Amino acid sequence: MIKDLWYKNAVVYCLNVGTFMDSNGDGIGDFEGLMRRLDYLSGLGVNCLWLMPFQKSPQRDDGYDISDYYQVDPRYGTLGDFVDFTHEAKQRGIRVMMDLVINHTSDQHPWFQAARRDKSSRYRDYYLWADKKPKDAQSGMVFPGVQKTTWTRDPIAGKYYFHRFYKFQPDLNTQNPEVQEEIRKIMGFYLELGVCGFRMDAMPFVIQTKGTTAAHTERYTMLREFREFLQWRVGDAIILAEANVEPDLNMHYFGDDGDRLQMMFNFWVNQRVFYALASGNSRPLAKALEQTRNRPATAQWANFLRNHDELDLGRLSDEERQIVFEEMGPDKTMQLYDRGIRRRLAPMLDGDRRRLELAYSLLFTLPGTPVIRYGDELGMGDNLRLRERNCARTPMQWSTEPHAGFTRADKPILPVITGGPYGYEQVNAAQQRRDPDSLLNWTERIIRMRHEVPEIGWGDYSVVETGHDHVFAMRYDWRNNSVLVVHNLGAAQTEIEMHLGDKLGRTLINLLGDEHSHADNKGRHHIVLESYGYRWYRVGGLGYLLDRTSY
Ligand code: NOJ
Ligand code: CA
Repeated sequence: MIKDLWYKNAVVYCLNVGTFMDSNGDGIGDFEGLMRRLDYLSGLGVNCLWLMPFQKSPQRDDGYDISDYYQVDPRYGTLGDFVDFTHEAKQRGIRVMMDLVINHTSDQHPWFQAARRDKSSRYRDYYLWADKKPKDAQSGMVFPGVQKTTWTRDPIAGKYYFHRFYKFQPDLNTQNPEVQEEIRKIMGFYLELGVCGFRMDAMPFVIQTKGTTAAHTERYTMLREFREFLQWRVGDAIILAEANVEPDLNMHYFGDDGDRLQMMFNFWVNQRVFYALASGNSRPLAKALEQTRNRPATAQWANFLRNHDELDLGRLSDEERQIVFEEMGPDKTMQLYDRGIRRRLAPMLDGDRRRLELAYSLLFTLPGTPVIRYGDELGMGDNLRLRERNCARTPMQWSTEPHAGFTRADKPILPVITGGPYGYEQVNAAQQRRDPDSLLNWTERIIRMRHEVPEIGWGDYSVVETGHDHVFAMRYDWRNNSVLVVHNLGAAQTEIEMHLGDKLGRTLINLLGDEHSHADNKGRHHIVLESYGYRWYRVGGLGYLLDRTSY
């Protein structure tokens, strides 16, 4: 029964163990601290956590540089603590997904250490080497402006090695069957420890052929091999891919028969959501949804607003990108890698509560599964004095105690935001929990409603014409139930007129407030949306189909 596809309607919360909660006062968040905050997460209504990398690492790219796949970074605890944590999460009905970073290792990984020292080492071919600096070494850099090349000379090997990302992250030769075997072994290990799946880092690069020229091909069959392995071990485990690709490639990732990846982040839609929020024009968003509509029935999109990286706007037109920059990140200091904005969501929206609710309401009603980021439920801000993406990775703000109650230490791993409108004195979980009107409590309520509207994860959607570019309406239909969501992206109050076409559509029950809508005698609804207003309606009369919330 398809009901078993838990990921179709989960609410995912992503966090970094190191900046969430410190239990032992060393300034670094840990599994013990995270465990103590599981009740908070459960209260918020999230039912899947995505943990950023927590394995042993020199931490030069926030853990995306792993030096031992089979150890928890000692700063976060032990494997024992990790298993305690997955168990405790399970007790609360929360699944745990983890980052799987296997495109590259840290240069401190014993595989690389052995490979660079000895050309006859069995690990030599785990990486990619060249005698001379390849002429394409200046192309394909992921961090332009910071990264200088993709081939760096290793003095010990006396050769150049390939690195798609920073130079301390040598790429694994993922076409090597022995490397693929290692990847499966790592997956199998963590599945045994209780994870529900993996967020696979840098997926397009993992499956590419890698060599001394920039030309490459994608080996999509690898995706099916990963998938099969996963499901032989744990039937309902999933892979959620980080793959910021053009829409015509999506089905290669999902597989025509749904035999490859279960989930992908919808980067294409994400960029048009920000364009819509910045410009007030929803047409490109509607188009992007259409372009990414196609997916196998068992697959699902993961939607998000901000994540731990910069907001990558690289797939917008120059003109569209410029509009988002002007509206949401006008200063050079707010921009990164010539393509994105590195701020947190709240400051990008001027801390305007109406716009934050609008953005989140939109996220929660996009076709797919919503992924939210720690601290966004409080409206946390950023610290642009911190380098690159660290500005949006500051510790969770729990209370008004020193360092926001994140740690007892004098010096946290990254400084907590203090002073000003986003400082922990103003923005913290303890105060917001007690205030019924807080963003935290709003988020909890919208998550609860999202759980009550499974049509969004399961149903077919259509965009409903509202007569205004800045008012975006979508209808979901699933098993004789329908839901209509409407978002006013503009600052102006707007009256819309809509015809839903069927008898059922004569009554709209407001799921978030008291004003329901009844069609006039021509079957049209007249709805007045306030500035940045949003509505979630169940289509149909009061008491209709009692198995769904319609009161
Ligand atoms: C994508 C991750 O999201 C990013 O944070 C990281 O720097 C790169 N992959 C390299 O692992
Ligand atoms: Ca600690």
